[in-house]
Amino acid sequence: MLLARRLHTLALLKPDLLANPQTVAEIISEIQRTPGLQIARRAQVFWTREEAERFYDEHRGRFFFRRLVDYMTSGPIEALALRGPTAVTLWRQMMGSTHPVRMRVTNAGCLRARYGLTDTRNSFHGSDSPQSAARELRLVFGEQITREMEA
Ligand code: PPS
Repeated sequence: MLLARRLHTLALLKPDLLANPQTVAEIISEIQRTPGLQIARRAQVFWTREEAERFYDEHRGRFFFRRLVDYMTSGPIEALALRGPTAVTLWRQMMGSTHPVRMRVTNAGCLRARYGLTDTRNSFHGSDSPQSAARELRLVFGEQITREMEA
């Protein structure tokens, strides 16, 4: 089953990026040109608060939880199922860590340094493990993705 597989991850392009279709196109093109990464599924979604809270359930109670849910429900997001032998770690490396302003100092080439604005408006999400990826892919694309991922 998908939980045992390591080939897929969930990438999200957050609402600040979706405001600019040209930016989204540039990022998609960059992903398509990245060796070892393929876009297996793609969908634009607009979360309800309930869906965003369920997705970020592990962070319930953190000081930023409400701010994060407000932001992630403020506009559409682009969801990508990325496939590759090291998709989880490769996509996390490409994004850089949570804080875009710090990333501009330590890892200026990463996506969050180039596109992110603040700790909240940090433009990207990536699953942090194969287990998280399986859960998050199911939440975004539905149960049927489990079978597709095995194909
Ligand atoms: S932790 O402590 O490592 O578990 O947290 P982290 O992975 O850095 O962040 C978890 C998600 O919360 C978002 N985040 C924030 N949102 C709003 N405001 C602030 N200050 C903030 N800090 C962290 C962060 O972007 C993560 O969401 P995703 O979608 O995974 O990027």
